[in-house]
Amino acid sequence: MKAVAIAYPSREVRVIDAPEPRLHSPTEVRVRTLEVGVCGTDKDILQGLHGAPPPGESHLVLGHECLGQVVEVGAHVRDFRPGDLVVPRVRRPCPHAHCPACCYEHPDFCVTGDYTERGIQGAHGFCAEFFVEDMMYLHRAEDSLRDVAVLTEPLTIAEKALREAARIQARLPYKQAPGNAVVLGAGPVGQLGAMALMGLGYATTVYSRSPPPNVKASAAEAVGAPYLSSQQVTVEELKAKAGPVDVIYEATGSSTVAFDTLRALGPNGVLIFTGVPGRKEHLHLAGEEVLRQLVLWNQVVLGTVNAGSEDFTRALENLERFRARWPGGLERLITARHPPEAFSQVVEGRLGGIKHVISFQEAAR
Ligand code: BGC
Repeated sequence: MKAVAIAYPSREVRVIDAPEPRLHSPTEVRVRTLEVGVCGTDKDILQGLHGAPPPGESHLVLGHECLGQVVEVGAHVRDFRPGDLVVPRVRRPCPHAHCPACCYEHPDFCVTGDYTERGIQGAHGFCAEFFVEDMMYLHRAEDSLRDVAVLTEPLTIAEKALREAARIQARLPYKQAPGNAVVLGAGPVGQLGAMALMGLGYATTVYSRSPPPNVKASAAEAVGAPYLSSQQVTVEELKAKAGPVDVIYEATGSSTVAFDTLRALGPNGVLIFTGVPGRKEHLHLAGEEVLRQLVLWNQVVLGTVNAGSEDFTRALENLERFRARWPGGLERLITARHPPEAFSQVVEGRLGGIKHVISFQEAAR
């Protein structure tokens, strides 16, 4: 079968002929891949900044944002049937008995770092015609989500982050309404984060680099989130326009942008970092000012990565809600679909737009 893989150590990306996976246990499910989203993490893998092949292997099958269709189920599988649309989770537990998070099936909070991530870290991904996965790592997507469910995984990043933020803000029991939010970055994680924040009732502004008009600004504005360009609007002006900011949701992976915008965070606010930084940045920070602000205003800086089972369930429910609330809003985040052969061209990131997707089923649709 066709699979898109990166070879090590050359880091050359190619479509390879890989053996078709088979079921090895009664709880496994064989899935035909429909679509795989390409993201900044794939770019980092290609640049050698992140990721690793499975132990003892010299290539890694890429792809971690996936929508597939069940083709075969093991004898103990009750919840999935051939034909069902499914989305797989990314991270698998580490093998250590002393990691409470992994022992209790919360590998997104792994404490050893020895987890694997399909398509990223030590385990083959989903950018292949078929894959096999244990039923416990699969989530059923409604047929009505066929065209947008490839966005589930990037949305789970926001679901986990906002679940954590809600726990933190439970420290403010008197607070009646969610308040104001700023999203940094207007890529897929930022756009989906904005929708998730608006879904919770936050008045949300998207703050990103490129001046409008552009596709990212239009996508944000189409769902009612004002878009401001950091080239036109300073952090001070942002602060004045957005009002006291309760949540800053960072989705750029740029430490300069994030720490700069920290100045806009309001009293008792939470700054959430979701972007794994790629390129090197040397930051000049007025450390005492940052600490003074954090301490005197009870602010929280939260880093969050990956997502758990409940976040995938919630993301799939939210995709339905977003669809009903903003018809066409999710679809416009998907800029184009490409054949597997185009993976490296797509990942280079020169095509512009928002989310590029590899489709294994274009001919059949
Ligand atoms: C993925 C996460 C993953 C993280 C770090 C992100 O792109 O969406 O699932 O945990 O990269 O590898």
